[in-house]
Amino acid sequence: MRVEELDVPEPVKEVILKRGFTELYPPQVDAIEAGVLEGRNLVLASPTASGKTLIAELCALKHVIERRGKVLYLTPLRALAWEKYETFQDYTGITKRDGRKVRVGISTGDLDSSTPWLEQYDIIITTNEKCDSLLRHKAPWMEGVSLVVADEIHLIGGDRGPTLEVALARLRQMKPDLQILALSATIRNAEEVAEWLKAGWIATEWRPVELREGVALNDTVMFKDGSAKRLKPLHRMDALNIALNAVLDGGQSLVFVESRRRAMSLAREAAAALAGILSRRELAELQKVSADILVRGEKTSLSDDLASSVSRGAAFHHAGLSTAHRRIVEDTFRAGQIKVLVATPTLAAGVNLPARTVVIGSYRRFVPGYGMYPISVLEYKQMSGRAGRPQYDEFGEAVLIASSSDEQDALMENYVLAKPERLYSRLAQEVALRGHTLAAVASDYAHSERGLLDFFSGTFYGYHYPPGNIKLILGAILSYLSREDMIQYKGEYIYATDFGRRVSELYIDPLTAVVLRDGLMRGAPEVTDFTWLHLICHTPDMRPILRPRRRDAEAVEAFVEEHRDEFACRIPDDGDPIDYEQFLGEVKTAMVLNAWIEEMSESDLLEQFSVQPGDRYSAVHNAEWLLYAAHELAEVLGLPDHRRHLRQLRNRVKYGVTPRLLPLVRLRGIGRVRARVLYNSGFTSIAALKRAPVSKLVEIPLIGARLAKIIKEQVGGVVDEEEWRRLEAEEGEQRALTDFIEEEPE
Ligand SMILES: Nc1ncnc2c1ncn2[C@@H]1O[C@H](COP(=O)(O)OP(=O)(O)OP(=O)(O)O)[C@@H](O)[C@H]1O
Ligand SMILES: [Mg+2]
Repeated sequence: MRVEELDVPEPVKEVILKRGFTELYPPQVDAIEAGVLEGRNLVLASPTASGKTLIAELCALKHVIERRGKVLYLTPLRALAWEKYETFQDYTGITKRDGRKVRVGISTGDLDSSTPWLEQYDIIITTNEKCDSLLRHKAPWMEGVSLVVADEIHLIGGDRGPTLEVALARLRQMKPDLQILALSATIRNAEEVAEWLKAGWIATEWRPVELREGVALNDTVMFKDGSAKRLKPLHRMDALNIALNAVLDGGQSLVFVESRRRAMSLAREAAAALAGILSRRELAELQKVSADILVRGEKTSLSDDLASSVSRGAAFHHAGLSTAHRRIVEDTFRAGQIKVLVATPTLAAGVNLPARTVVIGSYRRFVPGYGMYPISVLEYKQMSGRAGRPQYDEFGEAVLIASSSDEQDALMENYVLAKPERLYSRLAQEVALRGHTLAAVASDYAHSERGLLDFFSGTFYGYHYPPGNIKLILGAILSYLSREDMIQYKGEYIYATDFGRRVSELYIDPLTAVVLRDGLMRGAPEVTDFTWLHLICHTPDMRPILRPRRRDAEAVEAFVEEHRDEFACRIPDDGDPIDYEQFLGEVKTAMVLNAWIEEMSESDLLEQFSVQPGDRYSAVHNAEWLLYAAHELAEVLGLPDHRRHLRQLRNRVKYGVTPRLLPLVRLRGIGRVRARVLYNSGFTSIAALKRAPVSKLVEIPLIGARLAKIIKEQVGGVVDEEEWRRLEAEEGEQRALTDFIEEEPE
């Protein structure tokens, strides 16, 4: 089927043709033949890069332009949400029937808000969590949604799956005529997901680029079809040997490994091995990228390591990297400049990043509590599916590594030839169900036990099991919620208390709310910043906590001894090793947050606590949200002193500064590093900056003409006209000294 023949508005076709697409991919044709453009529900399960997004785009524009509808596009990850936001930008030039342009919005943050400004958008992209929270806040515009796209729906079988199934169940309860389009990787039971959603289904193995899957043993790769390939001996490590063979053939390689440390050491090895393979021009380009890495964010041994590998054509990618660095690595790999990228599996389920050759360096991965565990077939398929870049490669190769011929046979059978697992819901677990039960009551989805069972029967769990199955656990949860004063009964009728409603809106686990409430009420003999930082780390919503390493465990224990009076909860004795280890992890996480707000550099956080920028970022992000929740609960509980303290603490955590720097970091262009430089140069307040002669600001290290101007624009004050002109002329010069790009919180 040709793009021109599509039954969609002309301007939409123009956008697609302009991208260079003229023919639809076969799964796209199947989807259209299944009636997706006429409003039929559909589950589209097809491999990575088979073009599922385009179907969502066509469907979305059909709704917006022809039916005055509104579209909600759900993704599991923020990074993916932004990727889709970019894609949909292509359509913002199109005029709708009402004469206005198509508007595309995105919201992935602030879980305690109905985000009313989203109302004005036609296509709204959110994470699954944000959607769930919007439903809890009863955002009025959601009534107008006519199409929901659930991307990566195969993650419904994972930890965060319950959020998605509950959100979908609620949306369908609210609007029974809603169209649902679910996009999925290849899964075993697509027809069950479809039956649940009252949808048609398409499951294909079609890929735009042929995929050759195989298992390597020493210097030979055996492929699925029985053929074999001999590798040139280029490296003593199998994974790198395969990767380098691909590079020598003019391709790029993506190597998946089990740990961050391994990713970094392999990247280093790869960089060394690439010497002599890259051209001088390629190296010059990489040098620029490497320099860019060094000026982004605070310097650490991690960024040095990354910059050094990248300058020689290799890189690592894992969750410890800062967002900015991860983005640079992804872009440079996509541009073909990085030849070997070594990644942890987090990359497999994320951004669109294909490579000619994918090497699965380890099919095991560390699961806390279990040790090394083999990955699922679904995960294997997600990784191997990255092989083959459309438009560039004739085929892609995905290779597992075996160390004996028995293992080679086993891998062939258990992964290459195996079908992915069936998906099942995890909703019936207490951790998931208690929050969703409270939300269902607080947001009026249901007001009785019967009603709750009914509501949950609309979930994927409810599709598989009779409602009676969760009766027992639901009963236990309801008594817990009632005991903790989050819900009350009037006969059969259940309603949420003010406290319960606020907990549901704040999007925290009811258990978190209980920990926060009890801690705030109890306080500590000596309340310090650490008191509240530890309290939030003691909640189940602080995930993951930063566990002590062997070398800092002692320091953490010593800290506990020294600060015994500052805890707002009971200190467990070391009798129960699991409890105690969890506790030490909470304390360490709080210590890291405490060091962060005392302005410890990223580099020292890494050296002293082994905390990498990406982990620091997640901890800060989580802490900010939980301190906000604590602040809000302090309000409900009538604790004004705690509220003031918590508000300041939250701002300090957000920016990573001591209280005196708070006014300065609020300025655009000024993060914690520059705020400190300004402060130490005597500019300790906004008033001082307002009085400051421009020439003085320009001279401060890391400030320079460009930022001096930005500061003056924000703080006001008198600037000599001639001086301003000179400043404008100097903008852009003086780069080297002031190039440093600071992370500024959103
Ligand atoms: N008909 C087409 N012709 C040419 N290229 C296309 C066509 N449809 C989609 N593409 C391109 O294919 C690439 C992969 O598409 P997409 O991101 O939709 O994959 P996907 O099926 O969602 O995969 P994943 O499971 O990895 O999310 C995109 O770069 C897209 O622009
Ligand atoms: Mg996709």
